[in-house]
Amino acid sequence: MQPMTTTVLSLILLAAGGVALIIMMAQFGGRQIAHPQFAALLHRMLGWLFTALYLMLMVVMVRRLDDYWEVAPARIAIHVSLAVLLFLLLAIKVSVHRIFPGLAKHLLTFGIAVYLTAFVLVGITAGYFLLRLYQGVPYISHTASGSQVMDLNLGEELFINKCGTCHLIRDIATPRSPKEWEGVVNRMVRLASPRIIPAAATQILNYLVTKRNPVVPREDARLSAVQKYCAPCHAIGEIKKRIFDRNGWEDVVRRMRERAPEIIPENEINSIINELVQRKY
Ligand code: HEC
Ligand code: HEC
Repeated sequence: MQPMTTTVLSLILLAAGGVALIIMMAQFGGRQIAHPQFAALLHRMLGWLFTALYLMLMVVMVRRLDDYWEVAPARIAIHVSLAVLLFLLLAIKVSVHRIFPGLAKHLLTFGIAVYLTAFVLVGITAGYFLLRLYQGVPYISHTASGSQVMDLNLGEELFINKCGTCHLIRDIATPRSPKEWEGVVNRMVRLASPRIIPAAATQILNYLVTKRNPVVPREDARLSAVQKYCAPCHAIGEIKKRIFDRNGWEDVVRRMRERAPEIIPENEINSIINELVQRKY
């Protein structure tokens, strides 16, 4: 279930609970109710709707928790605790009518406790999700199905988040061909297992392949060979910082050609090496 779906369901849950609570407060508060029977029926139906939505969301969330490999943020820990608390409170509230009718005068207290718990429970997750949405900040969801929607912002966020724990981003952001990225990401998922779940890896790979790919070499006679064949992936300044002798550069250029034969033509290798050795490019 998508975060948006669960958010909407939780808001319906809060609305149902809110109206049920208001009816109850009206009854206990001694207000004149126009159609008391209808109000009682509405209260009961909304109560069951609330309970049904709660149970349904519980099932969805327990599955989602499976996907947390990291220490859950405090927000989620509180959310889970409140969900368990709500289960108990609901059970007490429902049992009063049937099992302990003498406690009926306390029903309002139980009702308020249930609603307050639900309100905070939903507020810190659905509310947080909506806030992130409003701010346009990617929201890392642990839904497996959420990963089917490719999102570049989310991919970048996950790239920084997951890959940045072991690497300086600067070191691993150099463009590569899609095939090479696929190899790297698969290797890293295995290496870092179980840190990067497949859903996250798919988002990261999508980001890398889309945003960190070589630019097409420009066909411009005024460009030096290095500008034409190395700049698709490197800033020229970065290459300038490296000092090698002819053998060293030959080794680098050979390795780069293995990496990107479609960009670096065999017959240009000599002129590339000459430019690099003479530092004229
Ligand atoms: C648990 C730590 C860890 C995490 C997390 C991790 N890496 Fe690595 N990475 C390594 C290690 C160790 C190496 C060197 C060994 C190797 O290449 O297998 C490496 C090597 C690399 C290399 C160099 C490979 C090459 O052949 O040039 C790249 C690029 C890379 N990682 C990218 C990533 C990306 C992208 C991610 C996130 C999807 C990532 N890493 C996540 C530990 C990690
Ligand atoms: C398809 C993209 C691509 C092209 C084209 C490319 N490189 Fe690279 N290059 C890389 C990647 C990826 C790495 C490894 C990650 C890093 O060190 O940034 C790398 C690393 C390097 C390094 C440092 C580490 C090493 O492996 O020795 C040098 C120097 C280098 N490239 C020079 C060049 C030169 C010179 C050219 C032009 C002939 C070139 N590259 C063309 C992608 C490319």
